[in-house]
Amino acid sequence: MGRKSAKGKEKKMKRKEEKAKILAAMKVVEAADKLEDPMATLLPFKKFNRNGLTLSIECSRVTDMDKDSIDWAFNLTKANMQTLYEQSNWGWTEREKREEMEHDKAWYLVAKDQDGCHQGFAQFRFDMDFDDEVLYCYEIQILNEVRRKGLGKFLMQILELIAHKTQMKKVMCTVFQNNKTATAFFTKNLKYVIDETSPSEYDPMNPEDYDYEILSKPIAKKEKVVSKEDEENKAAFKTAVEALS
Ligand SMILES: CC(C)(COP(=O)(O)OP(=O)(O)OC[C@H]1O[C@@H](n2cnc3c(N)ncnc32)[C@H](O)[C@@H]1OP(=O)(O)O)[C@@H](O)C(=O)NCCC(=O)NCCS
Repeated sequence: MGRKSAKGKEKKMKRKEEKAKILAAMKVVEAADKLEDPMATLLPFKKFNRNGLTLSIECSRVTDMDKDSIDWAFNLTKANMQTLYEQSNWGWTEREKREEMEHDKAWYLVAKDQDGCHQGFAQFRFDMDFDDEVLYCYEIQILNEVRRKGLGKFLMQILELIAHKTQMKKVMCTVFQNNKTATAFFTKNLKYVIDETSPSEYDPMNPEDYDYEILSKPIAKKEKVVSKEDEENKAAFKTAVEALS
């Protein structure tokens, strides 16, 4: 047997580096998901005082939420979304939606007024999307009476800040093409773009097969401060590459 070509070695090295990057990204997701309160360092964002609304905002894991709050979130989602789901290829399945909304990995931002009445929420997960660490927004639902007062945008901005703090690569969401309000909200106002994983990107020849888009916004990496932790992360990355050798 002769020697392996330099090209082959290079390819193998690249594969190892890619694997190590994915492992590192999974660790970032795991660390984010272990946080006690992802809003702990975002105290000014726990209040929303605008356009006649005085609200408080809390971030909790679904497993720490009371049943009434979960039921309220489900019922609002059903009221706002059932028809859109029924018009799509997905259809509306109450059991599946409940399971998704009560999944162990689900986190919620919930906005309540001074009487403790729920006004809106965002549901999200820290997750891997293909090889990327992302904050995936599964739902954003605002009561009809308090829409167009900036609350939806405020909740999305909190998600973007959380994504930044936890080192996620992007914030993602899925939007039905016929949900014109949500499309305007995400693309025109919040500047989300069609993600490379959206069917209209990877399968543009069959647009009639899909009635949704996957949207995303990249999140700028934290300023590079070379700290002890950075050094440790670098060392962990090197060890991971070596372990895969
Ligand atoms: C989409 C939704 C979350 C927006 O929440 P909101 O609190 O009303 O939105 P905001 O007040 O923060 O709006 C921010 C901007 O988004 C855009 N926008 C919001 N609603 C819009 C609408 N109905 N038509 C056009 N643009 C809209 C506007 O640019 C708006 O800024 P402006 O009011 O200064 O013009 C809300 O309409 C909702 O809960 N809809 C039903 C559920 C839903 O479809 N969720 C999305 C699932 S993917």
